[in-house]
Amino acid sequence: MNILVVGGGGREHAIAYSLSKSPLTKKLIVAPGNPGIETFAECSPVPADDVDGQCKLAKEMSADIVFIGPEIPLVLGLKDKLLELGINAFGPSKKAAQLEGSKTFSRNFCKRYNIPQPHFKYCKDLETAKKQIQFLNGYCVVKADGLAAGKGVVVCDKVEEAMAAASQMLEENIFGDAGKSILIEERITGIEASVFAVTDGDTAVILGTAQDHKRAYDNDKGPNTGGMGAISPAPALNKILTKNIFDNIINPTINGMKLDGNPYEGILYAGIMLTNEGPKVIEFNCRFGDPETQVVLPRLKTDLVEIVNATVTRKLKGLLIELIDQTTITVVIASKGYPGKFEKGLELPPLNQELQKSDISIFHSGTAKNKNGKLISNGGRVLSVTAMGNDVQDCRKKAYNAVENINWHEGFYRKDIGRL
Ligand code: AMP
Ligand code: GLY
Repeated sequence: MNILVVGGGGREHAIAYSLSKSPLTKKLIVAPGNPGIETFAECSPVPADDVDGQCKLAKEMSADIVFIGPEIPLVLGLKDKLLELGINAFGPSKKAAQLEGSKTFSRNFCKRYNIPQPHFKYCKDLETAKKQIQFLNGYCVVKADGLAAGKGVVVCDKVEEAMAAASQMLEENIFGDAGKSILIEERITGIEASVFAVTDGDTAVILGTAQDHKRAYDNDKGPNTGGMGAISPAPALNKILTKNIFDNIINPTINGMKLDGNPYEGILYAGIMLTNEGPKVIEFNCRFGDPETQVVLPRLKTDLVEIVNATVTRKLKGLLIELIDQTTITVVIASKGYPGKFEKGLELPPLNQELQKSDISIFHSGTAKNKNGKLISNGGRVLSVTAMGNDVQDCRKKAYNAVENINWHEGFYRKDIGRL
C-alpha cells in the first residue's frame, strides 16, 4: 500500500515508524516529516495544514491511505477533500473533528447523550461569564471554544484570575476567533488519564491508555506544555476502570455521533479525569496525542497498517487488536525556556545508532538539519526518548539512561516521568 502521513512531529515519527515496519507498506511518504523520519521514509516539504498541497501530494503518489496526524488539517477538512478525490483517509471528517475543534460542540454533544463531564456554561459576553465565575466562587476553568494551540484552558482558583482569563479571551481577543466564545466550567478534581480508541464509525476498540505529564517541571510544577513525557499503560487505569470508560464514554460517543448522522472515524482520544463520582470527560481530541503516541504505538502487537486499513474500509469488527504486555515511558527533551521563549537552531549531539536499541526509540519532535547537514533543534519539544521495559522501574531506568547518554546541555527534561 502507498501511505502518506501528514505531520512532522514526534507523534508522526512514531506513527510512520510503526507503518514502515508493516509488510503491507509499499511506499511511505511523510509531509513535512523531519530528519528522524528521513532515516527510514521519504519526506516531502508540504506543511501539515496545507490542505490543497497535501491532496496534490496524495494524488501524485497514488496514496491508498492518508494518515492525518495533527488536529489542524482534520478540523480544516482534509479528510473530506481527500474523499472527494477518492482517497481514503484515516481520521475524522471536518464535522466530526468538531469534537476537538469546538469545546462547545463537544460539551453539548456529551450533555445530550448523558456522557459524564463537568458542568459548563457557554458565554459570549463578559457579563454572562462574570455571573458564572461568581457563582462558582472563581474555582472554575475558563476555556476558549476553538483551537488555541493547547493554550486556551485556564484553571482558576479565584474570581479575579478567572475574570482576567475571560476578559483576555472575550475582549482582548488573545486567541482571535477561537476565544470569541468561551466556556466556564466547574473545576473537577482527580487523577487524569488518556484513552485512545480506534473506530470506523460503528465499532470502537481501545488501542491503549497513557498518562501524560503536562507541566514543564518535576512534581507537576511550572507552566502547562504540550506534554513533557508519558507512560503507557496509564498507571491509574485498571481493567474495570478502562471498561467503565469504554462503556460510559467511548461507546456512547461513537454511537451518538452515528445517530447524529455525523459518524466519527479514526482515533478518538478521550482525556479523562477519575473523580469520586467516576470517570468524566475533560476533553476529546480527534487524533493521537503527542507524546502519548510515542508510548502507545510501541506496545501495539497488531500491524498498524491492518488496523488503519480495517478502519477506512469499515471492517474493524472482527479484527483482533493485541498489545504487548510491557510498560513504555517516553521522556521529552525540550529546549531551555520552553514553553516560553527559547532558541532554535542549536546543534544537537550525534544520535548514534547504538542509542537506538530494540527497547529504545528516539523520536524527533522539533529537529532540522543546518546547511552542513548537522542536526539542530527546531522547536520547543526537540526529542522524545521511549523505552520499553518489564515494569515501570525497569522502564524508567532504561529511558533515563538513554536520555543521559544524549547529554544535550541546551535542553532540559523532567526527571519524574512515570514515577509512581
Ligand atoms: P485541555 O487543554 O482541555 O487538555 O486542558 C488542560 C488541562 O486543564 C487538563 O489536562 C486538566 O488538567 C485541566 N482541566 C480542563 N478542564 C478541567 C475541568 N473542568 N476541571 C478541572 N481541570 C480541568
Ligand atoms: N499531549 C497532549 C495532546 O496531544 O493533546
